[in-house]
Amino acid sequence: MPIDREPESAGCPLYPFQRPRLSLPTPLRLVLLGATGSIGQQTIDLIRRHPDRLQLAAVSCQGRVEELAALLAEVAAVQPDAPLPLIAVTDAKARERAAAVPGWAPRLLSAGPRGLVEAVTEAQAPSCLVNGLVGAAGLGPTLAGAERGLRIALANKESLVVGGDLVARAVRRGGAEVLPVDSEHAAIAQCLSGRHGAEVERLVLTASGGPFRTTPAAELAGVTREQVLNHPTWRMGPKITVDSATLMNKGLEVIEAHWLFGLPYDRIDVVVHPGSIVHSLVEFVDGALLAQLGTPDMRIPLQYAIAGEIHWPLAGGRLDLLGMGPLVFEAPDPERFPCLRLAREAGLAGGTAPVILNAANEIAVAALLAGRLRYVDIPGIIADTLARLPRGPVDDLSMALDADARARTEAAVLVDVRAAAGR
Ligand SMILES: NC(=O)c1ccc[n+]([C@@H]2O[C@H](COP(=O)([O-])OP(=O)(O)OC[C@H]3O[C@@H](n4cnc5c(N)ncnc54)[C@H](OP(=O)(O)O)[C@@H]3O)[C@@H](O)[C@H]2O)c1
Repeated sequence: MPIDREPESAGCPLYPFQRPRLSLPTPLRLVLLGATGSIGQQTIDLIRRHPDRLQLAAVSCQGRVEELAALLAEVAAVQPDAPLPLIAVTDAKARERAAAVPGWAPRLLSAGPRGLVEAVTEAQAPSCLVNGLVGAAGLGPTLAGAERGLRIALANKESLVVGGDLVARAVRRGGAEVLPVDSEHAAIAQCLSGRHGAEVERLVLTASGGPFRTTPAAELAGVTREQVLNHPTWRMGPKITVDSATLMNKGLEVIEAHWLFGLPYDRIDVVVHPGSIVHSLVEFVDGALLAQLGTPDMRIPLQYAIAGEIHWPLAGGRLDLLGMGPLVFEAPDPERFPCLRLAREAGLAGGTAPVILNAANEIAVAALLAGRLRYVDIPGIIADTLARLPRGPVDDLSMALDADARARTEAAVLVDVRAAAGR
């Protein structure tokens, strides 16, 4: 049975359309979680470009300690006098390697998810949490950042998919602000800036369509891992790249938009826009449409969120209006991309449904990346996991984590069965 509950944030969305942004001292001190990932490295690039405006208060990685050391050395080269950040390394073995890096031991936090939360709670005078973690692992630190009243530049959309209601409540308690990093939601935020909720008719999220936008259904069974990872417009981490190929990423973004902007699901639409030039649109009640356009460069929405929705200078490619060609929009194909429907249904059902959806997807994507599951089998793993597990409410973090763990176990069994059948 679906859990039919209005989101607590309805009428009071997570993203404040009109509220002034937090007034924060300069330099902004960042807690950067997932520093070695795609979002993390682009954040480091922004620090290199704005050494007077941005500083690191804490950083994390899962296992890539050597990459993290190299990134911290790059930051130290432009900020030789800045205080040194706390460091969380979640993988226990990797943390042992990290303890041997000269100067790191006194600044090392706990291993595992606890270290991520410590990075938020123990950092000295932090102002902004940049959550560049991948997956449901991001929820705990997002909640900690919300309770601490930080600006949260949120790339980790899974935080809102798994715990949208929990994050909304923690943000209200802590006086935090959540500013989206996803280019689509950053676009919508810019179109909504200064508006009132009553002016808004619907949100339109654009999707590139991924590498299989025009691939006939019959050929999808044979696509390779390399083809799945060959995204036409964006260079990102492996999980979101797979999600972009299945359109699960867009499904997760629909749920993210619901929590951020407080609109019901039937007023959040998706259109395929292959060029990734129009990053998303807002339609107002008089039929006016506002869109935000730009080159596909994640540093633009990332910097905009970190800066508190101010356009700081950023050198880089500019959109060539005369050379960009026609803007094409298409309807997504629900037959070839069932993940979009699965995500929308789970979002509507609420409670543990989106938790189960997300966990099953994480397991299926990891199996694809490990060469154990075909691209076409991903939606089946998610649908079967959702069908097998009972639904319930998510009233606190432990309920979300419990549903997440059960769904992972169930999905892993389903993956094993399919992998054995395919052998
Ligand atoms: N990349 C983009 O352009 C983009 C755009 C929009 C939204 N997003 C969103 O941003 C988030 C991050 O994406 P990404 O592409 O940057 O991912 P990514 O490149 O895979 O990086 C993930 C980061 O998180 C760490 N990590 C992975 N699993 C972890 C775990 N279980 N516990 C703790 N740390 C873990 C990784 O550490 P190691 O490197 O040590 O493994 C790495 O630093 C995702 O939610 C994604 O949907 C990304």
